[in-house]
Parts: sequence; structure tokens; C-alpha cells
Amino acid sequence: MELDPATLAQRDLYKLMIGCIVPRPIAWVSSQSSNGINNLAPFSFFNGIGANPPAVSIAITHTGDRPTGRKDTLSNILDLGEFVVNVVNESVAAAMNETATNYPADVDEFAAAGLTPTPGQTVRPPRVAESPVSFECSLHTTVPVGEGPGSATLVVGIIKHIHINDAVITDRGYIDVHKLQPIGRLAGNSYCYVHEVFELVRKSLSS
Ligand SMILES: Cc1cc2nc3c(=O)[nH]c(=O)nc-3n(C[C@H](O)[C@H](O)[C@H](O)COP(=O)(O)O)c2cc1C
Repeated sequence: MELDPATLAQRDLYKLMIGCIVPRPIAWVSSQSSNGINNLAPFSFFNGIGANPPAVSIAITHTGDRPTGRKDTLSNILDLGEFVVNVVNESVAAAMNETATNYPADVDEFAAAGLTPTPGQTVRPPRVAESPVSFECSLHTTVPVGEGPGSATLVVGIIKHIHINDAVITDRGYIDVHKLQPIGRLAGNSYCYVHEVFELVRKSLSS
């Protein structure tokens, strides 16, 4: 099958993309409004960018729920210039899903999902105590990609502080994926586990 995106409806394109770009890690983003209300929401258009400086990106799509077209997370990040990316594992999957509800801006999603906000060390939004890893970030850049329904804003953050629960670290100081138990997002309401891992040794041309 060959497809010209220009001939496809925006909804079909979105469904196609989330079916093909799999599995996706999930950034569970804590942010805070300028009047101090905590917000929490998952974003799977998420990845790391580089390590110098340590940077992450999330893409936040346009919403028809707000006159500005901005999801609360984006409004808060633009207002405060800070956010926290919390890692989602099996034990917090249901709570993560709860925080994807489009609650009004004055609802604290930590409270709605029964989660524990823990003060950050370098940023004002709290981290999720129940999450195994949290990256405290300051806003680096936002890049609008398109406009109106289906468009998105790419948010780039610089990691200022990392919190890791000791329970997911190996004796040698690495992350143990079997202890971390991350989940990945697939299409629709589907997710995946990371229960089976295999290795490929990379060929090197240097002696
Ligand atoms: C697993 C998962 C991944 C999601 N990924 C994204 C994403 O990458 N970008 C996006 O804009 N919305 C994504 N959403 C939807 C948002 O979480 C949802 O719109 C949320 O209500 C936004 O909350 P806010 O208005 O408090 O920012 C995702 C939802 C789920 C359940």
C-alpha cells in the first residue's frame, strides 16, 4: 500500500501514526498553573533528545476543549517554564489513565487519581511519589508544528534533576528493566509490557 498523507483525513492519519509508531514510552507530566494548581497528564509522543545537555521532548496536540487550543499541561509549561516527566510503570498504569481525563483546569489530577505530590528539588511542580523515576525539567523551547485541530506543539525540556527509586537500580548502578516494569503505549486503548528482552551485539569496524 502506498499512501499520500494529503489525501487522508486528519483522524485517519493520527490512527495510522499511533498504530505504526509503537511502542511509545509515556511521559507522565506534572505541571503547575500560575495560581498553584497541580496538573498531571500522560504524553506518549515523548522521547529523549541528547545528554549534553540532558534533554527530553514531548508533543502536545491542539485541543478544542480550551478557547486557547492549549491543553492545561502546555499552558502551565508556558506560564511557569518548568515541568516534571515521571516514568509510568505497571503499578501506576491505572492512575496514569485516570489523569488522561480532560478535567477542568481547576482540578488537581494528583488528588483525582489518589496520587502523592512530592516537592521537586529544582522546580515548582511536584513529582509523583508513586512513579519509579522522575526528571525535573526547565523549558528550553516550544516549536509549534501546524495550527488548529491535529496540530501540535513540540516542547523541549532540559533535565535539571533526576529522582530514581533505589528499588529499580541494580548492584552495578544501572536501571533494571525487570524492576522498573515500564509500560508502552500502542494504538487505541492498548498498552504493552516489557517482560521479554533480547540482545544484539553491535558489530564494530575498529580493531
Ligand atoms: C497513554 C496516553 C498517551 C497520550 N499521549 C498524548 C500525547 O502524546 N500528546 C497529547 O497531546 N495528548 C496525549 N494524550 C492525551 C492527554 O493525556 C489528554 O489530552 C489529557 O487530558 C491532557 O491533560 P491536560 O489538559 O491536563 O494537559 C495521551 C493520553 C494517554 C492515555
